[in-house]
Amino acid sequence: MANRAHRNPGHRSMHVLRKRGKTHRSTDRVPTAPSEVTRQVALVCDCLSLLRALPDKSVQLVLCDPPYNINVADWDTYSDYVSWASIWLREVERVLADTGNLVLFGGLQYQNEAGSGDLLTLLHHLRQHSALRLVNLIVWNYPNGVSAQRFFANRHEEIAWFGKTSMYYFDLDSVREPYDANRRALYLKDKRLRPDSVIKGRNPTNVWQLPRLSGHSKERVGHPTQKPAALIRRLLRALSPPGSHIVDLFAGSGITTRVAIEERRHSLCCDRDPMWKTYLSRQLAQLTAPPPYVLSDALGDALTVSGTAEAARTAGRRRTRTTSQ
Ligand SMILES: C[S@@+](CC[C@H](N)C(=O)[O-])C[C@H]1O[C@@H](n2cnc3c(N)ncnc32)[C@H](O)[C@@H]1O
Repeated sequence: MANRAHRNPGHRSMHVLRKRGKTHRSTDRVPTAPSEVTRQVALVCDCLSLLRALPDKSVQLVLCDPPYNINVADWDTYSDYVSWASIWLREVERVLADTGNLVLFGGLQYQNEAGSGDLLTLLHHLRQHSALRLVNLIVWNYPNGVSAQRFFANRHEEIAWFGKTSMYYFDLDSVREPYDANRRALYLKDKRLRPDSVIKGRNPTNVWQLPRLSGHSKERVGHPTQKPAALIRRLLRALSPPGSHIVDLFAGSGITTRVAIEERRHSLCCDRDPMWKTYLSRQLAQLTAPPPYVLSDALGDALTVSGTAEAARTAGRRRTRTTSQ
């Protein structure tokens, strides 16, 4: 009997791409030059000010965890949400390198008031108005959340990952999950499985089970919608090489800057709320023995930083924290 999965359009197109050799880890297409010192730019400004200062195709990864106009806080109100989002989404597409990736956080369940937006609205908009390719819709499944009586209590959010082109960077090996010893031994005996893949570990799939930060989490720095470091780390590792430039347009708690330092990426992050710099200083205080980095509050020559200590020394206004080597 024919395998019905073969009729699934998603599976079919993946099969065609695989045959044409177009699904690849693509880690070999991006120069990966881990820097000695990374440059971390932290700006208090509107996301459009940052984007408009960036040259075309200059960035490897853009993270967007935007407001959804649902009054979570006073930053969460926009009168025409989609029109507003369409402006920064167009700019994101412009600044991404051909190997670049866009990550959009959100939920599908937020559209509850006129004018509010949700991830569905943005996905629909991008499908119609951009050439970005949806690579995965990741389900972030968490065990903790609020209870509900009139519907099933929500335990997931979505993370949409778009590639700028089919050349998007993806390093699966950097985020594989190791099998436990028993399973590994069992799988190594299974002739249908590739031993090298078994040794490297499993693909974490597009369902990620990671807890949300609880109210008492040590990671918390005070921002109401702070994302867990583990989530950001997996995205940075898989979608950007060490030494590349990443952007977070809605920096919030500063978690992206913190993970960028730890994972040796350069970052350009902004939030229009000045409180984010306070949150960021709390993030940096939590770092123990981080790789060396330069923190700057001006864009300056951030995108020309070669990643060398010399480049870091010549950076403009800055604060250097060099860790014990
Ligand atoms: C959902 S939160 C981001 C949380 C962040 N991802 C984290 O894990 O900490 C959205 C953030 O967007 C900021 N924001 C709202 N409108 C903005 C704009 N036009 N430009 C820059 N930041 C904006 C808010 O101040 C808020 O901190």
